[in-house]
Amino acid sequence: MSDNKKRLAVFCSGTGSNFKALFHAIIERELPAEIVLCLSNRAECGAMDFAKEYGIEAIHLSESQFDSHDEFASAMLEALRNRQIDMILLAGYLRKIPDAVIAAYPEKIVNIHPSLLPEFGGHGMYGIRVHEAVIASGETRSGATVHFVNEEYDKGRIIKQNHVPVLPEDTPESLAERVLRCEHRLYPDALEQLLDEQMP
Ligand code: GAR
Repeated sequence: MSDNKKRLAVFCSGTGSNFKALFHAIIERELPAEIVLCLSNRAECGAMDFAKEYGIEAIHLSESQFDSHDEFASAMLEALRNRQIDMILLAGYLRKIPDAVIAAYPEKIVNIHPSLLPEFGGHGMYGIRVHEAVIASGETRSGATVHFVNEEYDKGRIIKQNHVPVLPEDTPESLAERVLRCEHRLYPDALEQLLDEQMP
């Protein structure tokens, strides 16, 4: 590994298809970055399986393992600092990042959200619920957003967006599939842009 590669942690809660897209894009595009940690609030999920298969350190860290929120936040910070993490990519991580971690990594934590923020974001808006709300609203366009994470759900500065059509015959599931395919292109593009901006 060359010294100037950014050390990335990817946080996941589920299948981890965005994690996989990022991992493969880093290799194929020869991006100056390496995913050195997968952190999940679930001991077992697709993302954790993928990390283990590809020799990426996988750690299960959940608030329920700790007596207090502060202890949980400290453990997360320690895990990141011990591994000299430069940037954290949330890829289907469905828990709020503790404020202490956000404060320690200003504009170094990035999330992908399956809508065109600021629309259809905020507390409780994740996964299929987002697509149900988009269809119920009658919108003819949806998409995905990569943004920085701050203390407010889905409110951090937008880095990059891509849109997809909402078709009259769409169900939340068919729209979710179209948006997810869009995410798999968008997240690597956004990472590449960020790395370009941050490299000397
Ligand atoms: C993705 O659609 C991602 O945008 C969404 O969870 C899915 C995870 O899929 N995240 C949110 O809704 C965050 N608010 P994946 O595990 O296959 O990458």
